[in-house]
Amino acid sequence: MKVISGVLTTLMLGVSASAVTAKMVEPTTPPPAPSFSAQSEPVFVKRADIFDYRALDSYTEPEFVSAFVEAGKLPPVKDRLPAEPMVYKTANMPDGTGVYGGTLRHVIGGRPEGWNFWGGQSQGWGGIDIGMTECLTRTGPLFMVESTDLQPLPNLAPGWEWSEDGKTLTVHLIEGAKWSDGDPFDTQDIDFYWNDIIMDPEVTPLMGASQATYNGATLDIVDDHSFTMTFDTPFPESVLYNMAYGNFCPGPSHVLKPHHPRHGGESYDAFINAFPPEKLGFPVMGAWVPVEYRSDDIIVLRRNPYYWKVDEDGNQLPYLNEVHYRLSTWADRDVQAVAGTGDFSNLEQAENYVEALRRSAADDAPARLAFGPRTIGYTLYPNLSGNGWGEPDARAQAVRELNRNLDFRKGISQAIDRRRLGESLVKGPFTVQYPGGLYAGTSYYDNDSTVFYPYSLESARAHFEAAGLKDTDGNGFYNWPDGSPAGNGDVQITILHTFDYQTDKNLAEGVVAMLEEAGIRAALNSLNNNDRDANRDAGTYDWMVFRNDKELITVVQQTDELAPIGPTTARNHRANPAGELDLLDWEQDMVDVVQAFMASRDSDERAELMKRYQKLYTENLYGVGLTAYPGALIINKRFANIPSGVPIFMYNWAEDNIIRERVYVPEDAQRDHELHPKTLPSADGPVTAG
Ligand code: GLA
Repeated sequence: MKVISGVLTTLMLGVSASAVTAKMVEPTTPPPAPSFSAQSEPVFVKRADIFDYRALDSYTEPEFVSAFVEAGKLPPVKDRLPAEPMVYKTANMPDGTGVYGGTLRHVIGGRPEGWNFWGGQSQGWGGIDIGMTECLTRTGPLFMVESTDLQPLPNLAPGWEWSEDGKTLTVHLIEGAKWSDGDPFDTQDIDFYWNDIIMDPEVTPLMGASQATYNGATLDIVDDHSFTMTFDTPFPESVLYNMAYGNFCPGPSHVLKPHHPRHGGESYDAFINAFPPEKLGFPVMGAWVPVEYRSDDIIVLRRNPYYWKVDEDGNQLPYLNEVHYRLSTWADRDVQAVAGTGDFSNLEQAENYVEALRRSAADDAPARLAFGPRTIGYTLYPNLSGNGWGEPDARAQAVRELNRNLDFRKGISQAIDRRRLGESLVKGPFTVQYPGGLYAGTSYYDNDSTVFYPYSLESARAHFEAAGLKDTDGNGFYNWPDGSPAGNGDVQITILHTFDYQTDKNLAEGVVAMLEEAGIRAALNSLNNNDRDANRDAGTYDWMVFRNDKELITVVQQTDELAPIGPTTARNHRANPAGELDLLDWEQDMVDVVQAFMASRDSDERAELMKRYQKLYTENLYGVGLTAYPGALIINKRFANIPSGVPIFMYNWAEDNIIRERVYVPEDAQRDHELHPKTLPSADGPVTAG
């Protein structure tokens, strides 16, 4: 592990921590947030207004694709589509039926590890995986669904039904849909996903799904297009949300299975690494297939000729023939989207807000920029395992003991000046002091159930001393208590974070400086995003600065991740190598509350349970909230069918929320951006009909 020394250590010399007479400052409710209203609101609809599944009289495709059919290289479009494809309704399309052509040029800061999402590989984020992978249900577009109709959208599973006792869920797959190489999509793919990925302890898919994600279900295949899931408790409806992006997104078993060690594959490592980014044409159910990869340069994806969604006129989707992923930095994504050399950005690094706003305000600005709700938030998480997760050495184990002490966590929280931290990113009405847990302004948030430990160095020190720490050598930093296996030097903690984002870096550096002001030596462990994730999942960290995921916004999504309900569900407390989870009492209470929430269908009860959750979380500092602020979607003005009020992050990221497969570029706005015009994907890269 690479450890970079804390930046401001030298400035802190001379402050003797133990010289301060200790006074504890009591917690309050969170300070009020500066008002900041979203710039456009969604047009709310019912789920059934967006699409249905039905046969149309005839279907069409881009002309260049018909050339493949005429050359005998592709079956006719009606034979490539399911008998009843998904049909997007024109009335719900902001600009109506689209036209073919056009390229969406993404820019990202991530790098692909490979295409094996199911073996845990990242494709580089920024929505590449969202465009390639389809899941049984879908949640991104739910931001526009009326609250009375809130349920996951059907996707690869057009329907499902519960048994009378609510303990069996029967799920029906779309019939006749095909992978982008023409292989049928059916329960063979489900069987492989469940038995060889989810149930195989040697394999963890990218987003960490396990049997606990589906309430401990057992799965049985019924026939080619249906399966059942059986549960111990009735109606665990959260599984339907967990069938959406990230979780129940089956991979192409016809290409993955032969590499799996249970089916003749050489080893787990070989399985995971069988599909490096150079391997083109990886079969997908999504709208675009990778056809070109150049390291540190670009990934190009072309339309999937077997895509199973159409518009009401029978045009096979997507409208866009090509999607680019320029491999650059996340900050460059903002710069390029504003300048018009890139097409899309989730403006989420607050450092870039002022410049991006200024440049987008010009009449001739190439891109639209619209702010949404405050759903970008950062938390400082303690590693709460005391029994060996991550196999800590003596120093790290001594930190874990401190982390499990409430006074120590209170000390950390009160050492953080959240106002200063927010303003160091951006001045103005953007950032709020974030106590942790559910975000203010989201549906399950309750202010009275939120405990806020205000900034006070004096109180922080009082709590550190209550946790047994003293500055025995008078150098301004607390020492390990007598007899600590970590020795008798200064307490030293490391802060894991990713340097892929300037914001993560700035916040981690700010935290280090503030902790040192309070007498705790801290050092950064700065890694790229993929390595940060690997350390997080292995438990090899003391504390971690982390941009939060969607469960703290919507609650109904990834609910299992709200507490350590299973051996591997939480990001800051997992089981040791022997499979034991040493939960603190209040963590066990959190688990009980989350499980009761998942089991309840009564909305009042669910609201009450989330109040209890928020209280347990914020009072006990399961995570130390840092700052939260709104994000903005930047999208080039040539794109049509972008829904109003799209949040960059809610049930999913904007790459899913905008429904890219029905986004189009009007003919007169189309530019010559296609790098592989008139081609379709193949294992050898892009190929033409001729
Ligand atoms: C990264 C980016 C987000 C979003 C997601 C999509 O995390 O920071 O803005 O693009 O990828 O997965």
